[in-house]
Amino acid sequence: MTDALKKALLERYPTPFYTFDAGVLRARVAYLKAHLPQEIELCYAVKANTFISPYIADMIDRYEVCSPGELAICTEQAIAPEKLVISGVYKTPELIEGHIASDNCAGHYTAESLEQFALLKTAAHETGKKIKILLRLTSGNQFGMNEEDIESIVKAEKDNAEIDICGIQFFSGTQKTSLKKYKREITHLSEFLNKLKTVYDFDAKELEYGTGFPVYYFEGEKTFDEDAFLASFTEILNTLEYDCHITLELGRSIAASCGSYFTKAVDIKTNHAQNYAIMDGGIHHLTYFGQFMAMKHPSHEIYPPREGEPAEWNLCGSLCTVNDILVKGLPIADFKIGDTVIFKNTGAYCVTEGISLFLSRALPAVIIVDENEDTKQLRGNAETYKLNY
Ligand SMILES: Cc1ncc(COP(=O)(O)O)c(C=O)c1O
Repeated sequence: MTDALKKALLERYPTPFYTFDAGVLRARVAYLKAHLPQEIELCYAVKANTFISPYIADMIDRYEVCSPGELAICTEQAIAPEKLVISGVYKTPELIEGHIASDNCAGHYTAESLEQFALLKTAAHETGKKIKILLRLTSGNQFGMNEEDIESIVKAEKDNAEIDICGIQFFSGTQKTSLKKYKREITHLSEFLNKLKTVYDFDAKELEYGTGFPVYYFEGEKTFDEDAFLASFTEILNTLEYDCHITLELGRSIAASCGSYFTKAVDIKTNHAQNYAIMDGGIHHLTYFGQFMAMKHPSHEIYPPREGEPAEWNLCGSLCTVNDILVKGLPIADFKIGDTVIFKNTGAYCVTEGISLFLSRALPAVIIVDENEDTKQLRGNAETYKLNY
């Protein structure tokens, strides 16, 4: 981001705010596509950031939606219903019945339990719509189903002409760096898909795989050779001994790099020999994966840049909790009230994961920056409660 753009943004919009850079986002998706096998499709998990979905609509094959709110947002953004994967651990009967009956019936629905499968099957029967169902395989938690439950479904329902059980969805966690873990997962998926074929004569046409690709956020972390990582991942994926259509379900890896969070110092003080800057943002807006106790230093910039010997600053928000610390001991030169800290790589799980309602403070504004550096405000500093003066 150029200094001229930072200046213009700060003149135009009150902090705190997020910017999401559509050019960076699109370049990121193009990078992932270029480094993954050509036949792979991409599904964007919108929980990572609901604002950016329309800006990659021509590059993304599917959108994974996990709540009625996310569904309403995607509908408002005119995301094609056939691209939607209606997922999430619990879908109410009203949502399932209403959505399947509507004109916006989705491309796919996931079944997370025997009970949820039964609801989908009933809705298909009652509406006469042959919906596509992905059976979610658990990775050992409350999400999805055991192998045995999936086997019981395919055994009983594979020939049911009213539904299309098209395959398996599997997600086993985020920030996964271990290639050995990917190898174990692919071996497990190969064995399971083959068992469904040989024992139950069920041919899964699709595998939707949430890989949880990692994002490195903090200064001093080992350098990440992502080209090499994705090449190794591709080799592992190619060892899948089962022929089916593969979609990778990604959130963080797509969204993180396009985001910046702007927050201004509104007060500064020194207590017990520690420098504190009170910022107009805080942990209710900004969360970094692995930022325990605010000890690590995320990639950031100070605007305007200042010269001199840096001092260590604790950057705190304005919530009534001693935990509202964005960073501890950040070296900053000549830091002043009114200076802005721009936190980088905040495109994923910040704007959607912060504990935004704590203390009833305002939600941060959201601004899209396009390839020509034109800006558009998608949301203002939305009040959660308004004082009448
Ligand atoms: C089912 C499912 N798929 C995909 C994702 C996206 O994961 P990530 O952001 O690590 O890519 C999640 C995240 O929670 C998920 O629950």
